[in-house]
Amino acid sequence: MRGAIFIIPALAAMLVLAGCAGVQSTLDPGGREADAVAKLFWGMVIGGGVIWLIVMGALLYTTQFKRGAHSEETAGRFILWGGAVFPVVGLTLLLAYGLSLMPSLRPWDRETAEGAPLRIEVVGEQFWWRVIYHRPGEEPVVSANEVRLPVGERVAFSLKSADVIHSFWIPSLGGKMDMIPGRTNSLTLEATRTGTYRAPCAEFCGTSHALMAFSAIVMEPDDFDQWLDARSRPSEGVDAAGADAFLRNGCGSCHAVAGTEADGQVGPDLSHVGSRETLGAGILPNDLDSYIALIANPDTVKPGIRMPAFHGLPEEEISTIARYLEGLK
Ligand code: CUA
Repeated sequence: MRGAIFIIPALAAMLVLAGCAGVQSTLDPGGREADAVAKLFWGMVIGGGVIWLIVMGALLYTTQFKRGAHSEETAGRFILWGGAVFPVVGLTLLLAYGLSLMPSLRPWDRETAEGAPLRIEVVGEQFWWRVIYHRPGEEPVVSANEVRLPVGERVAFSLKSADVIHSFWIPSLGGKMDMIPGRTNSLTLEATRTGTYRAPCAEFCGTSHALMAFSAIVMEPDDFDQWLDARSRPSEGVDAAGADAFLRNGCGSCHAVAGTEADGQVGPDLSHVGSRETLGAGILPNDLDSYIALIANPDTVKPGIRMPAFHGLPEEEISTIARYLEGLK
């Protein structure tokens, strides 16, 4: 019976910890910065646990074993060491360790970030992400709602906002950083494990804040270079009738598609949209039904979205545009 006292908390802890793995967990790091943050977390949990045990031990001691009054000298020593020296030393060590992690998290200021081998500019918008890849001497590559990065390389991020405060956070790769209108914040991330991670917006930014996420895909450096080179060229073999319907209905005044007349800057860039993992900023699978839902009833999919509904269009026209977009690989 007594064993249950230990077994039940152990089982509960196992269940809780099992939930710590996965695509959006700070405790399952896939990057150097996330690893540092996870180590700090565990250091604090263990340190806090030890202090808790000492306090509980002292409580048990005074209530169960030594209930009489202590001498004034003992009480004074106890307060000096337990109440002043120990907290000052403990907290100072913790602060020093926490601060020592910061240079590795922020090694690039804005000026040097401009010349980084790879800089990814991410702009938070209600309720999606504008993503621009910058490499020295090359044309920027514009995308949206998906961030890809090479494994084992330090990548500079320039974080901005177009409207209200959003927050950029890939829990598996590193700490979060606010995106503030009128400011550029810098962050550096180095992924250590390939894979697909989920990144939610981490600052309340309006009705659809909870529907604003993106996929962070970490690739082998060669695959990444190939992918980025392919993204700097327009899609091939696109459906001409669909492209025509897209332009005829004015989609191109808000959305850009590389290699076409569509060059709108208001909404997400749709070049190669068919090859993204999700649609609608991390909320829908990338399939025909999702395109149709987003074109016909965007406000139902994502309340507060700025895109007007096109449910007045004939169904066939919507399907034609949807098939065209899905084919932009
Ligand atoms: Cu963007 Cu919350």
